[in-house]
Amino acid sequence: MIELKRLFAETATTEEWHDYHRVMGRYYEDINGEPVEREPFLRTAKSGMTSGNCVERTFLAYDNGVVAGGGSFARYDGWGIVFTDIEVLPEFRRRGIGNRLLDRLRSEAHAVGLAKLFLFTVDNVPSGEPFLIRRGAQKGIVQKGGRLFTKDIDIALMRRWIAAGAKAGFESGVWHNRIPEEHIDRYVVAYNSINDAPHGELETTQTAMTPDAMRAIIRRFIVNGGNDILIAWVRDTLSGEFAAISELALNRSQPTQAFQNNTMTVSRYRGNGFGKLVKAQNALHLIEHWPRIQSIRTSNAEVNDAMLAINEKMGFKQVQTHTFWELAVDRALKS
Ligand SMILES: CC(C)(COP(=O)(O)OP(=O)(O)OC[C@H]1O[C@@H](n2cnc3c(N)ncnc32)[C@H](O)[C@@H]1OP(=O)(O)O)[C@@H](O)C(=O)NCCC(=O)NCCS
Repeated sequence: MIELKRLFAETATTEEWHDYHRVMGRYYEDINGEPVEREPFLRTAKSGMTSGNCVERTFLAYDNGVVAGGGSFARYDGWGIVFTDIEVLPEFRRRGIGNRLLDRLRSEAHAVGLAKLFLFTVDNVPSGEPFLIRRGAQKGIVQKGGRLFTKDIDIALMRRWIAAGAKAGFESGVWHNRIPEEHIDRYVVAYNSINDAPHGELETTQTAMTPDAMRAIIRRFIVNGGNDILIAWVRDTLSGEFAAISELALNRSQPTQAFQNNTMTVSRYRGNGFGKLVKAQNALHLIEHWPRIQSIRTSNAEVNDAMLAINEKMGFKQVQTHTFWELAVDRALKS
């Protein structure tokens, strides 16, 4: 008998948390090829779910009392996206559990007024795509998932990129785990320029970051979640505006990998080598200060020639194909 139980972050038992890790940890292990360490993973998950700026629902599926799968959605302030993950452990697949989880997430999303779920599939976990197609999900942008081993980073090339990007009237640097208060308003303006990057047809992928939502990310991911972020930046010293930024997330639960978040050069500052500069700054910072990190993972739209060209020059090799999907809550209701 299949039973779905909601996981309430405030009151869940240790056993329920371990079940949650067993299922969702498996999901991230399959995607990223590295075991997910339980305690840091749970610390980050709890921090997100209890952060107060997140609407989330998380369910575990049990087959005669044994955990068989899980699913969740979460919408955080600052993003339109309703991040949704479903994982059914391989030995329990093709028995309708994925459908049950998705039905439940759909009705919960409907109840809290969310219109679309956002999902992500990776080609090395091939069951996700037919499942989502069967449920009427709309296919969005396809991305190249790249990986670069830090041992293969050409340090001399990174230094040349930094030298070439050092233009009069601009300063640059790397922040670890902080955005100084005096810069946060302007930082957020640059962050939102990611909306200029190719992001396909999906409706909810627009970013609307605010200073408060950005402070909340720092609080839940770093201060409470126990993880690290490196932020490389270039700033126009006259106007105080940020010309380029690049964020690397270091998840404590998958400790040998760094995850490349957004990199952007604000459009009027393009063509100055700032994109390469910020990527090179982070790469050198990693090599110098983070010996445990062995590789960087990234994901870029297949149509984003500029970013792909930089990554290729850095030595990133494509190892996966990522696909983004949206599922209308109403459509899911009927299928
Ligand atoms: C995708 C996943 C959640 C499906 O879970 P599941 O419990 O096996 O799914 P269900 O049994 O409810 O299947 C529902 C329908 O999806 C389709 N489907 C699911 N898996 C499929 C597969 N491997 N190949 C083809 N169709 C598949 C089928 O149409 C199926 O209905 P059917 O069995 O009557 O033909 C599971 O395979 C999984 O955990 N994959 C890894 C994580 C992932 O990719 N999640 C989705 C993105 S968040």
